[in-house]
Amino acid sequence: MQIYKYKDYDAASNAAANLVIQEIIKKPNMILGLATGVSPIGLYQNLVKAYENDIISFKKIKTFNLDEYVGINNDHPQSYHYFMNHYLFDYVDILPENINIPATDKKNIEELAEEYNIKLFGNQRDLQILGIGKNGHIGFNEPGSQLGGQTYKVKLDEQTRKDNSRYFNSIDEVPKYAITMGIKNIMYSKKILLIALGESKAEAVYKMVHGIVSDDFPASILQLHPDITIIVDEAAASKLNMKSDHLVF
Ligand code: GLP
Repeated sequence: MQIYKYKDYDAASNAAANLVIQEIIKKPNMILGLATGVSPIGLYQNLVKAYENDIISFKKIKTFNLDEYVGINNDHPQSYHYFMNHYLFDYVDILPENINIPATDKKNIEELAEEYNIKLFGNQRDLQILGIGKNGHIGFNEPGSQLGGQTYKVKLDEQTRKDNSRYFNSIDEVPKYAITMGIKNIMYSKKILLIALGESKAEAVYKMVHGIVSDDFPASILQLHPDITIIVDEAAASKLNMKSDHLVF
């Protein structure tokens, strides 16, 4: 694990964007795994700027998102379809047919998950962007998820619903289910970039790096990935005891 610490949200977002931009320049037709949440917003804003400045193009890029809620429409402001359009896709030259986000709009959710899973195995990600939940979830793989699991319909943890209720009018509106890439799908990426920002992630970052690898804390599996970069700000790094701004673990 390569861990890089930056002063604050903006510095960390710049660094994350620089890494993604370098990868896109190296491979303009890359397959990119995308995440939602507050953590990658700054990264996406920087990618939009890089596109506007003609540094990168998304024309040949294919994207696969980690997850989507079940029970809200794609045009709901809290859906991940809406999020991705709002923070990235509407402002760059990505082709609509190259965008992949789990569909949750039909009755048979299990079938939709299976279809997405098949697509994922045919499209190994060159780079997967990840955030982390306070309870160690990655995508929506909650504590207790199978470490070898593939794309599936997941019942959301109450902690996750509570954390995500800040974006809804009330907790009752937060969906109870989602489709998520499984941990096996996430690990099937050549490179991973995880962004963890803010004090509320400090404990989770510590456990991800130093904890026992276990399904109790799904992000701990990332210790086994051969090429993972973790970008943190000072607050999220506060429990790591980093003597310099770069730690290899
Ligand atoms: C959601 C997403 C995760 C994300 C996590 C953290 O639950 N499904 O993919 O990593 O939240 O989000 P934030 O960056 O807003 O803390």
